[in-house]
Amino acid sequence: MAVFASGRGTNLEALLQAFPQGHPLGEVVLVLSDNPEAFALERARGRGVEALFLPWRGRRAFEGEALALLAERRVDLVLLAGFLRLLSPAFVGRWYGRLLNIHPSLLPDYPGLRVHQRVLQAGERETGSTVHFVDQGMDTGPIVLQGRVPVLPGDTPELLERRVLRLEHRLYPKAVRLVLLGLARPPEAFGPLAPSLL
Ligand code: GRF
Repeated sequence: MAVFASGRGTNLEALLQAFPQGHPLGEVVLVLSDNPEAFALERARGRGVEALFLPWRGRRAFEGEALALLAERRVDLVLLAGFLRLLSPAFVGRWYGRLLNIHPSLLPDYPGLRVHQRVLQAGERETGSTVHFVDQGMDTGPIVLQGRVPVLPGDTPELLERRVLRLEHRLYPKAVRLVLLGLARPPEAFGPLAPSLL
């Protein structure tokens, strides 16, 4: 497996713990980041996992380099964990069914950014996190697993984020396990892709 991460990488950490080198179901062999400062890179290196900064010189260039690395390292499954770039329909089409994302809301509610703030503003009593197969949209695609946490009186976006993150650290490895075991499979590809995209 490879993990793409742009930031602090707490979900990456949970995945590294759950799928260390030699794990019979699968191991994380590569971490890629578009951000040279991402703490995710240090976390991976600290555990002896190859971690590379791939500069974002446009989507085409980034994806071209990423695809080559994924092929070289014989990666079967790509996990987005706080990766802040949108991948192209061509990349997603090629990896459909083998590309997962985690998003800190009960999708399809609250896709996009500043989720916890919007959840609080809307007065929700419950929120959560979703692991899903990535399709061409932003935070869309068939859901593998969801978990829920309460929104409590006096919550701030930071408190809510912390509660959701604790959930995510259990949820993502669990969802990955389901996919690796073949117990969660994506429906048929999301409609025909133009041949030029493939
Ligand atoms: C998580 O909340 C995840 O759902 C979202 O970005 C955040 C990443 O956090 N996609 P971290 O970098 O894993 O700590």
